[in-house]
Amino acid sequence: MPAPARSLEVAGASVRVFDSAPDACRAAADLVAEAIRSAVRERGRAVLGLATGSTPIPVYARLAELHRAGELSFADVDTYNLDEYYPIAPTDPKGFRAFMHRHLFAHVDLAANRAHLLDGTVPEHAVDEHAAQYDRWIAADGGLDLQLLGIGRNGHIGFNEPSDLPVDRALALPTRPVDLHPATVADAVKDFGAEALVPRRAITVGIAPILAARSIVVLAFGPHKADAVARSLLGPVTAGVPGSLLRHADGPVTWLLDETAARDLDA
Ligand code: PGA
Repeated sequence: MPAPARSLEVAGASVRVFDSAPDACRAAADLVAEAIRSAVRERGRAVLGLATGSTPIPVYARLAELHRAGELSFADVDTYNLDEYYPIAPTDPKGFRAFMHRHLFAHVDLAANRAHLLDGTVPEHAVDEHAAQYDRWIAADGGLDLQLLGIGRNGHIGFNEPSDLPVDRALALPTRPVDLHPATVADAVKDFGAEALVPRRAITVGIAPILAARSIVVLAFGPHKADAVARSLLGPVTAGVPGSLLRHADGPVTWLLDETAARDLDA
């Protein structure tokens, strides 16, 4: 595992700052691989919560490499993806099903029926029940061993966007359909080509099932994430900064950062 340039404890979280994002991603892949191996050893299976976005792509590349080298199997793994645009066709290359196939599923021995994603095609009248069912599936599979997360510039985790909810209500948020924040829509323009083409809604795993994971690994790289990282770790716990709600996680939270994303932690 690449060694961090420095490690700190901030608000109960372990923060590891790396010289480069690729080093941090290798470390993240090693944490995921270790979570798989130890859960399979202890319970015969591992359950992962997975994230999309540009940040974790090298993590998936490294996991695929470990698999190719014969060092890691996904044969006893279930995965639950964190979110999906709504509505979106399952074959849409901009959807997260296609993303996961491209970056991980096509390259490892994960059974197709064990790769769970929220479905951007369910009809409007069934979307609440579909989201509730997803939480029941996660629970029935024994809960998440590890949740991999990115964080938005606006502090969102999954598509749990900033809100003015009281903290206790934010902590209880289940998996559900949501409206995307304008900053999230703006960030998605690079994928969809034009703002008018970005879906305005999504389905996201809620704050409550994220916090219930047995461990959480958060990745953030680049100066555009520094403010969200600092507010999540040093600011008040508030639904206005969903990343700050991670301080109420049930299990250990590890932040893997590069120097630019960590820069406001020393201020
Ligand atoms: P990004 O997105 O990895 O594309 O920066 C992170 C997020 O919005 O959670």
